[in-house]
Amino acid sequence: MSLYRKNEPITVITAHDFPSAHVADQAGIDIVLVGDSLAMVALGMDDTSEVLMEEMLLHCRSVARGAKSAFLVGDLPMGTYEISPDQALQSAITMIKTGRVHAIKLEGGAEMAPTIKKITSAGIPVLAHVGLTPQRQNSLGGFRVQGKTTASALKLLQDARAVQEAGAFATVVEAVPAEIATLVTKKLRIPTIGIGAGNGCSGQVLVQVDMLGNFPPGRFLPKFVKKYGDVWGESSRAIQQYKEEVKTRAYPAVEHTYAMPQAELAEFEK
Ligand code: KIV
Ligand code: NA
Repeated sequence: MSLYRKNEPITVITAHDFPSAHVADQAGIDIVLVGDSLAMVALGMDDTSEVLMEEMLLHCRSVARGAKSAFLVGDLPMGTYEISPDQALQSAITMIKTGRVHAIKLEGGAEMAPTIKKITSAGIPVLAHVGLTPQRQNSLGGFRVQGKTTASALKLLQDARAVQEAGAFATVVEAVPAEIATLVTKKLRIPTIGIGAGNGCSGQVLVQVDMLGNFPPGRFLPKFVKKYGDVWGESSRAIQQYKEEVKTRAYPAVEHTYAMPQAELAEFEK
């Protein structure tokens, strides 16, 4: 929030385990999000609808051990908050107590306002998520840019205002034309965290595995992802070299090997 007041962009990245949290924290990222995208990037699921609360909790706890400075946010998985504000508060409390994060994120706009109000009233900070909400991909007709028509841009603004009034400390704005995200950002007094929403937002978030390039060649990536690294390429190169060296007995070399004192060895060989 102080970054927002200083007009300094807020940096957010996802993490799904101890090392991915540790490296983000050491790099000085402001907010580490345990997104339910871990369903795909860490658990190999097809989409986020499959991931369970207990799975999120295990990963949140690992992230919490790795990130000591960053503000930690955990995604409420699909099915743990939509039924009622009471259900959502119960899930949020579980996320804080067992997941050891500082705040929760949930998807949805105006319709989630009473839920956000309930959770924030209990003293749990809520990060909202409007625009493209992947948990609802089946009713949105897939991963589609939102707010492209006047009507849907207006709905986006109403959703953003509603989550603000309900007490969200910030909102993710996903897959929205830059002009609309910028306008929405100007009209709000809470920060917007953009993903595929241009550079007029108050901050940015990316899925760590995506921005690191830790995926095999040929995988589809949304337009907004910038590949800052080639972690997959480097891992693959290293593992292939290891395999080669084991097959040719080049590894382990002398410097990786324990030696026995000559006298002991001679005694043993008798
Ligand atoms: O699950 C996730 O990683 C997210 C971010 C991309 C916003 O929700
Ligand atoms: Na998510």
